[in-house]
Amino acid sequence: MDKAKIQKIVSSLTLEEKASLCSGADFWHTKQIEGKDIPVIMVSDGPHGLRKMYESSIDPNACIKAVCFPAACALACSYDRELVQEMGKALGNECQSEGVAVLLGPGANIKRSPLCGRNFEYFSEDPYLASHMAAAHIKGVQSMGVGSSLKHFAANNQETRRLSVSAEIDERTFREIYLSAFEYAVKEAKPQTVMCSYNKIAGEYSSQNKRLLTDILRDEWGFEGLVVSDWGAVDDRPKGIKAGLDLEMPGSMGKNDKRIVEAVKNGELDEADLDKVVFRVLDLIYKGDENRQYAAKWDKDKDRALARKIAADCIVLLKNEKKLLPLDTKKKIAFIGEFADKPRFQGGGSSHINVEQVATAHEYSKEYAQVSYAQGYITSEDKTDDALLSEAVKLAEESDTVVIFAGLPDAFESEGFDRAHMRMPACQLELIDKVCEVNKNVVVVLHNGAPIEMPFADKAKGIVECYLGGEMIGAAICDVLFGKVNPSGKLAETFPIKLSDNPSYLNFPGEGDTVKYNEGIFVGYRYYDKKDMPVLFQFGHGLSYTEFEYSDITLSADEIKDSDILTVTVTVKNTGKRDGKEAVQLYVHDGHSSVIRPEKELKGFEKVSLKAGQSKKVVFKLDKRAFAYYNTQINDWYVEYGQFDILIGSSSADIRQSASVFVETDNVIPMHFDLDSLGGEVMSFPEGKKIFGEIMGLVNMGFDSAQNDEAAQAATAMFNDMPLHAMVSFVNDERITRELIENMVDELNKAAVEYAKKV
Ligand code: BGC
Repeated sequence: MDKAKIQKIVSSLTLEEKASLCSGADFWHTKQIEGKDIPVIMVSDGPHGLRKMYESSIDPNACIKAVCFPAACALACSYDRELVQEMGKALGNECQSEGVAVLLGPGANIKRSPLCGRNFEYFSEDPYLASHMAAAHIKGVQSMGVGSSLKHFAANNQETRRLSVSAEIDERTFREIYLSAFEYAVKEAKPQTVMCSYNKIAGEYSSQNKRLLTDILRDEWGFEGLVVSDWGAVDDRPKGIKAGLDLEMPGSMGKNDKRIVEAVKNGELDEADLDKVVFRVLDLIYKGDENRQYAAKWDKDKDRALARKIAADCIVLLKNEKKLLPLDTKKKIAFIGEFADKPRFQGGGSSHINVEQVATAHEYSKEYAQVSYAQGYITSEDKTDDALLSEAVKLAEESDTVVIFAGLPDAFESEGFDRAHMRMPACQLELIDKVCEVNKNVVVVLHNGAPIEMPFADKAKGIVECYLGGEMIGAAICDVLFGKVNPSGKLAETFPIKLSDNPSYLNFPGEGDTVKYNEGIFVGYRYYDKKDMPVLFQFGHGLSYTEFEYSDITLSADEIKDSDILTVTVTVKNTGKRDGKEAVQLYVHDGHSSVIRPEKELKGFEKVSLKAGQSKKVVFKLDKRAFAYYNTQINDWYVEYGQFDILIGSSSADIRQSASVFVETDNVIPMHFDLDSLGGEVMSFPEGKKIFGEIMGLVNMGFDSAQNDEAAQAATAMFNDMPLHAMVSFVNDERITRELIENMVDELNKAAVEYAKKV
């Protein structure tokens, strides 16, 4: 419906009617207004399946049967925008068939700590990857005429006190890491809705945070859709209206609607602000109504087949010593572990899908080979069952190759709480240990939503990470184990050796109602790289059954302006005997910077499919953002001119090609001096030398620099570190007053502005 018509409807509503449209009728529907012909739309949870509540039920957990696709933790490992988009399309079609107008997801929050109970619903520790995956998901869903709800905006990086904790994040970190994860997805994919988070940011709830919901989201990023509250995230409803929170979900049974009416009547809330919100609610409702495809039908088998294909492309082969995988079907193979029969394939909480059937590895192995099975442990119990353990060890002794299915049970990670540690259940670890003692050909297959410690990493010859791969994971893992599918997933997060290695360790999940993000921009590999720290598995790591060779990196120019686009090409060749896919990763390293920057940052990735022997040119386009950092002096992205290295590799630790480019900046930020600027800083600036040179020569630090080299060095060091205001004390000349120095600083700042124009 066009804007003028919606505006007309807004004008025709009473204050009470307008207020009532600002919240849901129940958990999942918008409200009806008596006597008015305004349609009602339904929203439902995603993001990796359709969690639609039965219309007839009031229990928010009574949901229709649907297909569970891989959760975001797995999906991100595909590094495949097209694949994610395909999944989004299938979800959108399911929504159309079931009359759902908005699918709640995807989640673009950053995996700050491996402990966040909801990491399985998020994509990555890296904002570029998270935002690109989210954008692909949204594009897929919305291409079917269904809206997405990008969540949880913003800084919802833990479950502990998620409804009240205040995230304290410095501005540069907020922009470069936590907001960036949303920014590209908002700008590129234009989600119909964004869901605000429960938590506070710097003391203000997201649901009433004007800076977040209006200044940044709408004014800076150009978002034109609707902001919905996370379920129950509303604190002060009139304040939320002013801040740009449009729809409150679920409804507060009219309580907050009344507050809106009162606030308008007593002048606390401007009715024009309410009208803006009502406009956006109606816009969403009419979009949903007009885009509805009543004839849409979804095909469960088709979607299950797609879920299998996607799951297989997300699986990450972490280790494969002596090429134990793919499995040799001529050998005696044993599958051990209850997850082979009952895999953990999704997480708990609002994304939990009510599935009809689950593919198990035990069952699907029959498509490939004769496999023996032993349960080994009881998933729901954290203690060893001696009988199951001995049966498993006996089977391992009699077998040539053993695949152990292990990981985290539901009770270990879920929405609503954070993990307390990174360990697997002790009974599973004991099983892996005992089996490795009797069999040297052990592969461990993992089902978990976030990194775990792996004390068995040296003992097992093979390690395969499935994450939470959706209901077809049992079939998909057999496709990979038996070599029908060549694994091509790469980690979207680092696996640290132990929890205390993680940069957020000292501050997670905070103290009382505050969590300080003291590690700043050094999240995930940005930290481990900078510290040159050993990790278990690096960001971007993932093996294949074939090998890839990288060559011929080429840049479109050696020197560019920051407003230019740099084109980078590299050739990737499949040098092995099997067809395969490679996620080619591009990182940027700033050669010299006046601010502290990570060693390298992901700024591009492409998944290429290569037949055995085939090679392809992979092309990347880099814009200003690939080189910029967020500068808090100008409150904008800024490229500091200089040399940057373009690093292309198979993982963050396996860089195969590199080249350099000199980037010039269109607008150099002038240096800024004040009375606290140091002698060394001033003298290293050419104009500073001219203005201050003479009186600097008079500084007497109490060393006789003519005496010997050490004294001269000490004098220079002291001088370099001396602030300008201290010259009053250290220059023995009564003309050198504070006033004089202030005037000279003014002169210096003017010269700095002129200098910046010339550079
Ligand atoms: C979750 C959201 C979810 C909503 C509706 C909230 O508790 O944080 O992700 O979409 O519930 O179920």
